[in-house]
Amino acid sequence: MASKPRAGRAPLAQSLRRDPPRGSRAGLIAKYRSLLPVGPKTPVITLLEGGTPLVPAPRFSAALGLRPECVLLKLEGLNPTGSFKDRGMTLAVSKAVEGGARGVLCASTGNTAASAAAYAARAGLRCAVLLPAGGVAAGKLVQAFMHKAEVLAVRGNFDEALSLARAAAQRTGWILVNSLNPFRLEGQKTGAFEIVEDLGRAPDYQFMPVGNAGNITAYWMGYRQWHGLHKSGLPRMMGWQAKGAAPLVLGRPVEHPKTIASAIRIGKPASGDRALEAARDSGGSIGAVSDAEILSAYRLLAATEGVFCEPSSAAGAAGLIRFAEGGGLRRAPKTLRIVCILTGNGLKDPDTPMTLKHRLREIPADEKALAKALRS
Ligand code: F0G
Repeated sequence: MASKPRAGRAPLAQSLRRDPPRGSRAGLIAKYRSLLPVGPKTPVITLLEGGTPLVPAPRFSAALGLRPECVLLKLEGLNPTGSFKDRGMTLAVSKAVEGGARGVLCASTGNTAASAAAYAARAGLRCAVLLPAGGVAAGKLVQAFMHKAEVLAVRGNFDEALSLARAAAQRTGWILVNSLNPFRLEGQKTGAFEIVEDLGRAPDYQFMPVGNAGNITAYWMGYRQWHGLHKSGLPRMMGWQAKGAAPLVLGRPVEHPKTIASAIRIGKPASGDRALEAARDSGGSIGAVSDAEILSAYRLLAATEGVFCEPSSAAGAAGLIRFAEGGGLRRAPKTLRIVCILTGNGLKDPDTPMTLKHRLREIPADEKALAKALRS
């Protein structure tokens, strides 16, 4: 009788030491290993994240009075859990496993929680997520449940949940996987590498939403690192907060942040100083857009480009509309390239679209009724 292969820890541990096979989607650690703080012993906890498309947005460009090829959308919602967080999480969770962590924890407006829960499940680690009670989009909450995280709804806002999580991480030895964890930013900087590889150079401008301010910090790190190696240029970093949650624009914390864009409903951004530095050093800026502007960009991208992002992601695109309408792009050269980072997938938040007006007509199941409906 042939002996059965022995299942158990050893083969699993070995397979975690190896980079997965390189297909069209290799996973960030495999692709950018030499530029990341990983060693031969670091386990690779991956869902083959990254490699997201940079999609031209010709109608959006035209609506801004630009040539069709000027604006490109980086679709981060196509990462495995539907947001850019997976770039940071593959690294943070791999390093947590390497360090012998018992579990990982985070505070989150939803996407970090979904990503941490998924990568922890894959690593066989425990995961606890602290969410502002009532402040998380339904799709993100169900992800945390399905990946079997310990879900804790904190009666307070994100900033309060984050200070609780930081204190708990210090006391318990569970690893904090918010963007305060330096490995998160190391992973997220790879978004900049991909953009420069796709365009053959850095874009002239990058527009993106800002919440806890980790992602803009990470992109700026990535652009600078690549420029140091390949002289690829640097973009102006244009970060956008929601008006009711704009501490970096006001220059002071916001105690009760308010916006429909729940992912960026944050009043005390942990990496605020670094975000301001990125904007200043790159010749960019941090601005604020209203909820009405966010919803208008959200609808425009979905209706005219076929790209459905979550409301927070649309804050960057709304910022671009504001900037262009204010004359910021007048006398643009032919070669102008602007990238908007669309940070999360629209399907994560099924409730916001239902607050908007749509046409839904019920018809009898007969051909004449259908023909009539199609004429009107
Ligand atoms: N866009 C989306 C979809 C997000 O989920 C977040 C942050 C941001 C933009 C802002 O990125 O915080 O790096 O400036 N979400 C965090 C979370 C706070 O808990 O999921 P940032």
